Amino acid sequence: MKDKKIILSGIQPTGTFTLGNYIGAVSNWKKLQEDYNCIYMIANMHAITVRQDPTALRHNTLKAYALLLACGIDPERSIAFIQSHNRCHAELNWVLACSTQFGELSRMTQFKAKSEKHPDDINAGLFTYPVLMAGDILLYQSDLVPVGIDQKQHLELARDIAQRFNQKYGETFTIPDAYIGEVGAKIMSLQDPTSKMSKSDENPNSCIFILEDKDTIIRKFKRAITDSDTCVRFAEGKDGINNLITIYSCVTGKSFDEIEREFDGKGYGDFKIAVGEAVSDHLAPVRNEFDRLMTDKDYLKDCYTKGAEKAERIAYRTVSKAYKKVGFLQL
Ligand code: TRP
Repeated sequence: MKDKKIILSGIQPTGTFTLGNYIGAVSNWKKLQEDYNCIYMIANMHAITVRQDPTALRHNTLKAYALLLACGIDPERSIAFIQSHNRCHAELNWVLACSTQFGELSRMTQFKAKSEKHPDDINAGLFTYPVLMAGDILLYQSDLVPVGIDQKQHLELARDIAQRFNQKYGETFTIPDAYIGEVGAKIMSLQDPTSKMSKSDENPNSCIFILEDKDTIIRKFKRAITDSDTCVRFAEGKDGINNLITIYSCVTGKSFDEIEREFDGKGYGDFKIAVGEAVSDHLAPVRNEFDRLMTDKDYLKDCYTKGAEKAERIAYRTVSKAYKKVGFLQL
């Protein structure tokens, strides 16, 4: 497994993925499989740091796993698994928590934001969330972690924890680096193009979900907020149009210049419909494959069972090493 660098990433199984998750993360994960040993995880243990309905969580975890495969993650080539299926995550979490400072966790901006959002449920898991995430990464001796800007602080902390542990107890963990993709397009809300497209947005028109049908997708693009100009071109101050051009470019592979030429003399109305159609066509194979996989639960089960076994084999080595280093008497 050490011939290629190890890449690890995780995604929470909350609802379905958005177009932003897809373009910004999961579609790149597929490409990374060519050059790296990839490990992709459905972070269901992180999900319970905010209140979840158990039935919905169970179902969403399976859906998220199926979506991962539908997006082109190959379970033979990569390790695709569900976090709670590998007990090593919970075990390393404790050891790492004892090498993490209260002050460090208090500085995490996501913790502050989520506590403000859920003032009636500021649980200890929400506070130690970054420790669990550090464990996810360190268990597999990951070299690289593709993360969005919102998770960067957590990755920095994972590096700090690993370095500190290595210093205190001797070489145990690989220090992970952030993986910076080539394009790294950030997809913005269709209703407020100055903020990121987010599934927790209250306005359903702001966000495209990758399993939505063509009519819904086109309708949402038709309603996208733009500006009072009429010309399709990428320019400062035209956040809405810039976002649509970016999306169109990501799903068609066309350059911004080509797009401006294609829509020269046409209005925003035509452009929005074209973007909606292109997005829907681009996502159609994912949607079809997802539907097919969800009718084949035995296959899914086989994949996540094997994924968990492969993940555990690697992770077990790391936890055993960490246990030994901190002085736990071996059984
Ligand atoms: N916290 C990440 C998110 O919400 C998900 C995640 C969990 C993750 N464990 C990870 C991402 C490890 C990268 C590496 O987006």
